[in-house]
Amino acid sequence: MTTRRARIAGTGFHVPERVVTNHDLEALMDTSDEWIQQRSGVVERRYCSGDETPADLALRATEQALESAGLEPRDLDCILLATLSSQHEFPGTSFFLQKRLGLEDTPCMDLRAQCSGFLYGLTTANALVRSGQYNRVLVVGCEVHSTGIDLTTEGRDVAVLFGDGAGAVVVEANEDPDDAAGILECRIHAQGEFAEKLWLEFPSSGHKPVRIDAEVMAQKRHFPRMEGRFVFKHAVTRMPEVLRQTLSSASLKLEDVDLFLFHQANLRINEYVAGQLEIPAEKCLSNIQRYGNCSAASIPILLAEAAAEGQLTPGTLVCMTAFGSGFSWGSVVARF
Ligand code: COA
Repeated sequence: MTTRRARIAGTGFHVPERVVTNHDLEALMDTSDEWIQQRSGVVERRYCSGDETPADLALRATEQALESAGLEPRDLDCILLATLSSQHEFPGTSFFLQKRLGLEDTPCMDLRAQCSGFLYGLTTANALVRSGQYNRVLVVGCEVHSTGIDLTTEGRDVAVLFGDGAGAVVVEANEDPDDAAGILECRIHAQGEFAEKLWLEFPSSGHKPVRIDAEVMAQKRHFPRMEGRFVFKHAVTRMPEVLRQTLSSASLKLEDVDLFLFHQANLRINEYVAGQLEIPAEKCLSNIQRYGNCSAASIPILLAEAAAEGQLTPGTLVCMTAFGSGFSWGSVVARF
């Protein structure tokens, strides 16, 4: 009997040209390169400029992913785009990407699970492909944070952490009994109890008579807010927990994993998690130094960079783990 698996067949990423260093931020707010690097690991990030949109970033990442999989846009059966910074409140970003890909009726949807969004997307794509519903699903993580953060001293605790970027993968059916490549296990979780610990309160359809007004804006409640230490504590508990759970469900040991890709929220979180699990530093990839936290895009960007550097050779076992607003968290283990 052949087992139908879903494998990651192609990867791609794109970040805007414009580099914004910690020193650049020093000119906008009361902060310092030293504080930012020490607390988060971020050195610089990319911001969109001119009329660059989320769909522009997503398109470039998708084109690369398709090229590396040897596919054309018309080969895609479905598009899942994870984002917390959609191009428009509705219909989101994926519909603009679909149009830019020249596709006429390929189903697409935005998926909202914040920094865990890409792993929620992979989990969904895995289920869609394994069930036989689709053969090829594009999963994109795409964020433009730069237009939604408070770049003044008041917003500094959040603003310095985030950057813009997009990453994409093609998830494809694999029925070859001689090819072990495939997504082996996915685990996702959520805890709405803490939704307000890291959130963007406005615009809100619960606010009357309109979703946002001058008063709300004067209070800066249209910028993301976070209880940093609370988030940190939960991240360093949930990430090792779900990672162990996922590996154990796949009957794998920590030592079996070649590369660990953690969500790039904070280098200190990832060092702490790796330390707790006794994972050697050389097995953990990071790019937060160059791109900051790109939320749903962080893990697919890391993955595409690893592929470009020749690190995803056949047989490589990769474990991806994320935590973010919602709270949401998850882990996916895949063989290349
Ligand atoms: N530059 C300089 N000083 C800053 C600053 C900045 N950008 N942001 C905050 N500060 C100040 C605070 O005002 C505070 O000053 P005070 O002691 O005079 O009150 C001090 O630095 C410490 O602030 P605090 O928020 O307690 O720092 P921290 O050690 O908790 O680090 C984070 C802040 C955000 C880096 C950290 O909490 C964190 O990484 N949390 C998790 C973030 C995360 O993962 N988010 C995304 C999940 S997807």
